Amino acid sequence: MPTNIPFSKKNITDKDLKIVNKILKSGWLTHGKYTEQFENTFSKFSNSKFALTVSSCTAGLHLICLAIGLKKGDEVLVPNLTHTATAHAATYTGAKVRFVDINLYDGNLSVKDLLKKINSKTKAIIVVHLTGISSELDKIIEICKKKKIFLIEDCAHALGTEYKSKHVGNFGIAGSFSFYPTKQITTGEGGMVITNNKSIFKKIKILKAFGIDKEIKQRKIPGLYNVKELGYNYRMTDFQSALGLEQLKRYNKELSLRKKNAILYCKYLKNIKNLKFNNYIDTCSYFIFPIFLKKKYRDRVIKIFKKKKIGFSIHYAKIIDEMKYYKKGLTRNKNSKIYANENISLPVHSDIKENNILHISKLIREALNEN
Ligand SMILES: Cc1ncc(COP(=O)(O)O)c(C=O)c1O
Repeated sequence: MPTNIPFSKKNITDKDLKIVNKILKSGWLTHGKYTEQFENTFSKFSNSKFALTVSSCTAGLHLICLAIGLKKGDEVLVPNLTHTATAHAATYTGAKVRFVDINLYDGNLSVKDLLKKINSKTKAIIVVHLTGISSELDKIIEICKKKKIFLIEDCAHALGTEYKSKHVGNFGIAGSFSFYPTKQITTGEGGMVITNNKSIFKKIKILKAFGIDKEIKQRKIPGLYNVKELGYNYRMTDFQSALGLEQLKRYNKELSLRKKNAILYCKYLKNIKNLKFNNYIDTCSYFIFPIFLKKKYRDRVIKIFKKKKIGFSIHYAKIIDEMKYYKKGLTRNKNSKIYANENISLPVHSDIKENNILHISKLIREALNEN
């Protein structure tokens, strides 16, 4: 019987460590060639014109919000069921976030509710491709064009997600990816911004490095540069970039195994009473495999998973406008609440084998009193 099934994959190989070691010993830990290579390879992988490493997806989202000029008095629409980072990124600029309900059960922004929440102050919408399922981009793009609103893509879960044969992150002004340890590839902390807009690319490049106007190699005299705006230090180190680059090179294989695992979950979880899950979606990058159960069943499954050491998570257990910082008590996002109360994230990464999936599925079936 399999035990100790981890929630996320340990992606790092001995070859990756060798490269990291070499960089650490070189003394050139940041601004190096691996960062450039990682950015170039990522831009090829996502088919975007520009890619920029950042210290986290949150930093990337913040930079995008700054680059489009968000400020106090503006409003930004975000889904109510997401990581708090989505809302924070816009809030850092002084703009106000308003929460939009999601669809049951793909977890993405509800277009119907979006239309209700747009007003003359709305400057941007941040979509989240939750769990790796792409949002309804066609409809959202049409709304953005009509109302002259920026579309930002939070792609934290969506490395490898496509919409109409195009990688997500390419549909709005820019998109930001996360390389946090549970994500499809990891650099510890870290992220990547992609955009097809040259002036946004240039702005973000400067803003992510203190607002300094010249890169190290452009400076005639070391230390001689100018600062024209208030930038941040949101850079990624070169050894993190090397880690990300090596994982990205083998990501297509990882992605196809994730998809195979998702197909197996769909097979083994079929016809369990009181259990819901989305049908297999081939364009999804399967950050995790979400299932949905009413509270009493979810409590039961969680208890068993803990006892049997099955790695799992919940994305997310509480909606954003119920968090103390944001608490408004004004929105009634029914679907977001249902999703938060019912979801469990199952591991779907390539270290999970068919017997693990069968085991997890059997435990769920037993927990729901089915054999
Ligand atoms: C939807 C979403 N957006 C943003 C983030 C923030 O990513 P990071 O930890 O790289 O800043 C996360 C983190 O997991 C996330 O799940």
